[in-house]
Parts: sequence; structure tokens; C-alpha cells
Amino acid sequence: MITIKSDREIELMKIAGSIVYETHQYLKPYVKPGIKTIDLDRMAEDFIKSKGATPSCKGYEGFPYTLCISVNDEVVHGFPSEYKLKEGDIVSIDICACYKGYHGDSAWTYAVGKISDDDKYLMKHTEKALYEGIKQAVVGNRVGDISNSVEVYAREHNLGVVKELVGHGVGTNLHEDPNVPNYGEKGKGPLLKAGMVIAIEPMLTFGDESIYVDDNEWTIKTDDESNAAHFEHTVLITENGPVCLTGDEKNG
Ligand code: MF3
Ligand code: CO
Repeated sequence: MITIKSDREIELMKIAGSIVYETHQYLKPYVKPGIKTIDLDRMAEDFIKSKGATPSCKGYEGFPYTLCISVNDEVVHGFPSEYKLKEGDIVSIDICACYKGYHGDSAWTYAVGKISDDDKYLMKHTEKALYEGIKQAVVGNRVGDISNSVEVYAREHNLGVVKELVGHGVGTNLHEDPNVPNYGEKGKGPLLKAGMVIAIEPMLTFGDESIYVDDNEWTIKTDDESNAAHFEHTVLITENGPVCLTGDEKNG
């Protein structure tokens, strides 16, 4: 069932979204060579709690951490660890927070120090693919219009689309209907209405799209061990167009 949020719910979701956005801004200066990813996780947990929210991922279906931190060939659901980020890594940080029962969800891929031109290309165009999707999040469109625009943009830039994981509705549950795949046909899928909130989250690779699940049973990695990028925003659909609840281009 796809829920339509009331004005009161939208106010709470705006707060949840802004806490997620602020957590990204708080962490960003620390995403430097030498920091342990587990330290970023602890900092995020403390920060989210200091805002009167709770980390949605921690305990979600048994996920053990506040953040999903996915380095290089890890696509999503990476475990924070004793690993120290090093110059040239790219790291996706996926942040979910719950405020008064409502969730916000946003992922961003960051460069650690100086990175390769290929990785810059991957990150730039994965972010742009997200915004191509957001542009389609308008009343009267269908989910397939979002999915198709992300896929077409990725294909035009010779990037691979990870198909096993999809965007989703967001509300009192972190994952709600509808599924929002990063591939599909225009004009297909559920109709978009004002008051729906969805997370749009392209996960793109250098062409080979196949992935596997790590031994920890959570972390998704590319089969060919090439790097992947992940950009995600929680978006409210309104009569006046999409409203990004978790920030804007400034996140990067
Ligand atoms: N942003 C992630 C997603 O939508 C949240 C994962 S939470 C986890 O898939 F607990 F499943 F890791
Ligand atoms: Co999500």
C-alpha cells in the first residue's frame, strides 16, 4: 500500500530529512585518509541521538550499525569497521534517521583525498542520474518514468545499473511501497500523487552490473571488484514538483 502523508506527517518527515542532511554535513570534514569507518559510525550515532532522533538502520532486520559505509567495490550495506580510509578510496555513506516515528534516508559517495579520474566520472554521473530521477518525481508521472530516466542516463554514460536493490517509499517504515527500481519503462508502474514520499537511489558501476553478497550476509559487492557509487535522497511529491527532504546538490 502506498501511503499519502498528511501535512503533520510531512512536517515530521522534513525534520527527519534535515537531521539526515545535517549528519552528512557533520561527517563530511572527517571523511579523510586515516579515519576508521567505525569512528564515523559512532560519531553519526551520537549526532543523530543529539538531535532527538534514532538511527533507523541499527537493528533493522538485524543490521548492526548506524551507518552503511561502503568502500570502493562495496555497493551498499557495508559494515563500519577498523578499516582506515586511505587516499584514493571512494566511500558511500548511507544515513537513515527516525524522528518521532518518521524516517529520512540519504546516501552519498565521497572522495577520500585525491581520487582517479574514472572514479570522479562514476561519482559525478551517479549523482546526476539521481537528479534525473528526481526531476521525474512529479504528480501524474509513474514510478517507471523515474526508473527509466535513471537507467537511460546511466546507459548514455556507459555506467552499469545494479538491479538487485531498489529505491522505495519512506514513512513510518524505512522501506514502504512502492519499489523504485533504477531501470524500467516510461509510463509503467504506480501513479505518483501529492503527499507520497520516496527514496530514489541509483547504484551505478563501471559497466559490469553483477554483484554478490559478502560473507557477512549484508554487504553487496561488485563481482568484477570495480568501484561503485550510490546517491540517494528522500523526496516528497507535491503539486509544485519534487521537494528533496534530505538536502540538495550541496551535499556533495
Ligand atoms: N538506505 C538503505 C536502503 O534503503 C538503508 C539500509 S538500512 C539497512 O537500502 F539496515 F538495511 F542496512
Ligand atoms: Co534507501
